[in-house]
Amino acid sequence: MRILTLAALLLASAAPAPALAHAQTAKVAPVLTTPEAKDVWTYARPAEARVTHVDLTLNIDFDSKTIGGVATLDVLAAKGAKEIVLDTLDLEIAVVSDERGVKLAHRVGASDPQLGAPLTIELNGAKRIRIVYRSKPGARALQWLTPEQTQSKTLPFLFSQGQAINNRSWIPTQDSPGIRQTWAATVTVPEGFVPVMSAQMLDGATGTPAPQGGRSFRFKMDNPVPPYLIAIAVGDLKFKEVGPRSGVWAEAGMLDAAVSEFADVEKMIDAAQALYGPYRWGRYDMLVLPPSFPYGGMENPNLTFFTPTIITGDRSNTDVLAHELAHSWSGNLVTNATWADGWLNEGFTTYFENRIMEALYGKERAAIYSDLDYAGMLRDVKNAGGDAAPATRLHGAPGESAGQLDYLKGSTFLRTIEYAVGRDRWDPYLRGYFDRHAFQPQTSAGFLADIRKHLVKGDKALEAKLQLDRWVFEPGVPSNAVQVKSQTLAKVDAQLAAFNAGGPAAAIDTTSWQTQQWKRLIDNLPRQQSAARLAELDAALGLTRSQNAYVQSAWFDLAIANRYEPVIPALEEYLTRVGRNLLVTPLYRGLKAQGEWGEPIAQRIFAKAKPGYHPVTVGAVTRILGS
Ligand code: BES
Ligand code: ZN
Repeated sequence: MRILTLAALLLASAAPAPALAHAQTAKVAPVLTTPEAKDVWTYARPAEARVTHVDLTLNIDFDSKTIGGVATLDVLAAKGAKEIVLDTLDLEIAVVSDERGVKLAHRVGASDPQLGAPLTIELNGAKRIRIVYRSKPGARALQWLTPEQTQSKTLPFLFSQGQAINNRSWIPTQDSPGIRQTWAATVTVPEGFVPVMSAQMLDGATGTPAPQGGRSFRFKMDNPVPPYLIAIAVGDLKFKEVGPRSGVWAEAGMLDAAVSEFADVEKMIDAAQALYGPYRWGRYDMLVLPPSFPYGGMENPNLTFFTPTIITGDRSNTDVLAHELAHSWSGNLVTNATWADGWLNEGFTTYFENRIMEALYGKERAAIYSDLDYAGMLRDVKNAGGDAAPATRLHGAPGESAGQLDYLKGSTFLRTIEYAVGRDRWDPYLRGYFDRHAFQPQTSAGFLADIRKHLVKGDKALEAKLQLDRWVFEPGVPSNAVQVKSQTLAKVDAQLAAFNAGGPAAAIDTTSWQTQQWKRLIDNLPRQQSAARLAELDAALGLTRSQNAYVQSAWFDLAIANRYEPVIPALEEYLTRVGRNLLVTPLYRGLKAQGEWGEPIAQRIFAKAKPGYHPVTVGAVTRILGS
C-alpha cells in the first residue's frame, strides 16, 4: 500500500497525473532526495528527469563482438525540466529521437575511465525517447568467449556482469542503484544459440524467426529494479527443471551436476519465505557460467548467475546459493541507494544466508559460517590498518570498504542485534523492514531511522546496548560484537595446533571435510613454512591436485608466500582457467608481494591468462600488478 501511495505522490509532484492510473505507472518506484542518497557514481539527475521503463531491442553479433541496440526509455520529468542525463561507457550513439522518430538534440560529455560519459538529451516535451546505439568490443560488462573457453568447445558464449557500474557499457540508461526501472527486451541471436536474461522469458526457449536472420526471444521484468540487475547470457544453453519454481540453465555437459548440486533450492526458498516474507519474483532459475565468470554468484533477478567452481559434487558450497537467493530480499527488493551503502546489500544478505543455512542444515553448519565471518572480519580490519582505519566503516565512500567488510562486519552487526533483542522480536522486525521498503532504495540513515522507529522505540537501555551509530559510521569493531564459535572448526583448530607443534601432516584427519574445514586449516597455517613441510602437507593432503577451487586457491596462496616453486605449473593452469575474483586476486597480490621472485611469474601468467578473463577481472588484476 505504502509503495502505491509514494508512487502516486511522486507522480503528482513531478508530472501531470495521467488520466488513468494503470499498472505501469502504479509501479513507479520513488527516488530518494536526501543528501546521503546522492549517488556520485552516476551522471543522472533523477529529481529533474528519470527513466522509469527501459525497452531494449538487442542484436547479438559474435563476429564483431558487439551488441547493436535500440533503447526506448520512458521518461518522468519534473515540471520545467528540459533535458535528461543518462550514463554511457564506450557506447556508439547513432540516433536519438522521440517515439515518432523526430530527432532530439543530444551531446556526449567528457569520459571518465570509471564512470564513463554523460549522454544529455533535450526532451522537447518527449515522454519516450529512442536511442539507436552499439556497444564496443571491449565493453566492460561483457565477456565474449571463444568456443574453446566453453565446455562443449563448439559455439562462442556471451555474458554480462552489471554490478556495480558496468551496464552503462551496453545499455544507455540511468545506471544508479537508486533509480529503479521496469524493463523488457527483444533479443535476436544467431541460429543455434539461446539467450537468457534476468527476467521472465516470454516464449520459452523456442524463439521466433527474426527478419534479420536468427531467432528472437522476448523477456520482461515488471518489478522496478536498479539497472545493475539487468543481465544477459547467450550460448549453447540447455534447461533442466529442479522443482516447480526452479531450474538450471547451463551447457549440456554441466546440467546434471548442477541440478544435483542445487537440489535443495526449493527448500531454501521455503525457508527464506518463512523468515522474511514472500518471494516476490515468480521463478528462481540458476545459470551456470564458464569458469571465467568473475564472481561466485550474482543475484540477477529470476536467474542467479553462478561460477562453475561451486559445483564440487558434495553440495558443500550451497552457501553461495543461499546467499544469492537471499539477495531476492536484501539487494533486489530493498537496494542500497548508492554504492557507499553496499553493506545494506551484502551484510544483510550474508546474515540472511546464514539463517537459511541454519534452517536447512542446522545450527552447527550455520555456526561454521558465523565463526568464519567473525574471523574474516578481524583479519580484514587488521589488513586495512586496524581499528581506526576509515576503510573499516560500513558507511564510507563508494567502493572504499576494505576486503569483505561489507559482508563480514555487516552480518556480524545484524547478528549482534539479533542476540541483543532475541529472534522473536528481530525476525518480525526484519520481515517488516523488507515489506516497508519493498522495491525501494535504502540508505544507512534510512535503515537506522527504521530500526529506531520499529524496534528500539525509544528504549534508552536498548539504544545504548546496540551501539547502532558506532557500527555503521565508525571504524573498527564495536565492543558488543557477537562471536559465534563452531565445534567443527574447533576440531580443525586442534589439528592445526598439533601440526604447528611439529606433528606430522599425515596425522591430520580430513575424513568428510568440506570446503570450510579445508579453508580454516590452510588459511590459518603460519605463513612461514619450510619447503620440506609444504611438500609433506601436499603429499599427505593432496592439495596441488585438489579438484576444489577454494582449496587450491588457499593452498597456492600459502605456497606463494613461501616461494614454493613446485606449485607453479598447477598455479599457472589454475589462473588461466578460473577467473573468479575472490579466488584469483589474492594469488596475484601474493605474487606481487614476493618482489623479484613473484612479480615476473605474475606478469607472465597474467599475459597468458588475460585474453580469457572478463574485463572486471582484467581490471582488478591490472590494478594489483600496475599497468
Ligand atoms: N553481488 C555479489 C557479487 C558482486 C560483488 C558483484 C561486488 C560485483 C561487485 C554476490 O552476491 C556475492 O556476494 N558473491 C560472492 C559469493 C558470496 C557467497 C560471498 C562471490 O562472488 O564470491
Ligand atoms: Zn552478495
